Amino acid sequence: MNPIVAPVKNVVRAQISFNRLYERPMGVPAIALWHGDSGRGKSTAATHIYNQLEGVYISVRSADTVTSLTRRMVEECGGEPLNAKSRNIEYIIRHLSLNNTPLFIDEADYLMNKNEMLDTVRDIYDATEVPMVLIGMNKIARRIESNRQFFNRISEWVEFKAADLEDVKTVANCMMDDQITIEEELLERLRKSTNGEMRRIVIGINKIISLANANELLTITSRDWGDAPFHGY
Ligand SMILES: Nc1ncnc2c1ncn2[C@@H]1O[C@H](COP(=O)(O)OP(=O)(O)O)[C@@H](O)[C@H]1O
Ligand SMILES: [Mg+2]
Repeated sequence: MNPIVAPVKNVVRAQISFNRLYERPMGVPAIALWHGDSGRGKSTAATHIYNQLEGVYISVRSADTVTSLTRRMVEECGGEPLNAKSRNIEYIIRHLSLNNTPLFIDEADYLMNKNEMLDTVRDIYDATEVPMVLIGMNKIARRIESNRQFFNRISEWVEFKAADLEDVKTVANCMMDDQITIEEELLERLRKSTNGEMRRIVIGINKIISLANANELLTITSRDWGDAPFHGY
């Protein structure tokens, strides 16, 4: 919806954690886990970072098996999937190792459904040691603890938190041209009513901007907004 990625705190922390994977001392594993509620901007942050680096990004699906997952990974690596999963895994390992390509695995909660999938990801990591980011919802952090072998390979943990007022301001500034100002009180109302969820904050700011444009307002106050909902009708 919005091509601009606002440098909110979660994005900055994710970027720092990602950079650390490259700066790690010998022997420190290079897997990061980004976790947090839906709509907090995890996938957006991942997309933003992998686009800069030409990394490989894959989103796990609920129905995935090792076969379907590795086939899609091969495709994401620019290859033609083969029938034998061992050959596909080999291809992925070779491709990632060649350029030290980072791998982003979104919706990683679904990996937890089948041990074999998590083990395959671990095999790929162990064979390549390329920087890897697993992205999941809040429960993933606890669930992954039960798989010690995987857990021990995670060196960076980032929790995507609810946006605070400063974050809402950052998003607003990215979305508006310089001429329009949104009163702080209105942004705080937006933060509260969205529980700091990025998805709804972006929708709300869009609606506020539309109101400003429709009424040719340069400053939009909480009073201008009135009681209208930020989201929905
Ligand atoms: N940093 C950001 N800058 C601008 N918009 C963002 C940002 N983060 C999230 N969004 C908006 O919020 C929506 C939901 O974010 P998403 O990354 O899909 O969340 P998650 O993966 O945590 O569920 C995105 O489609 C985008 O519109
Ligand atoms: Mg997501």
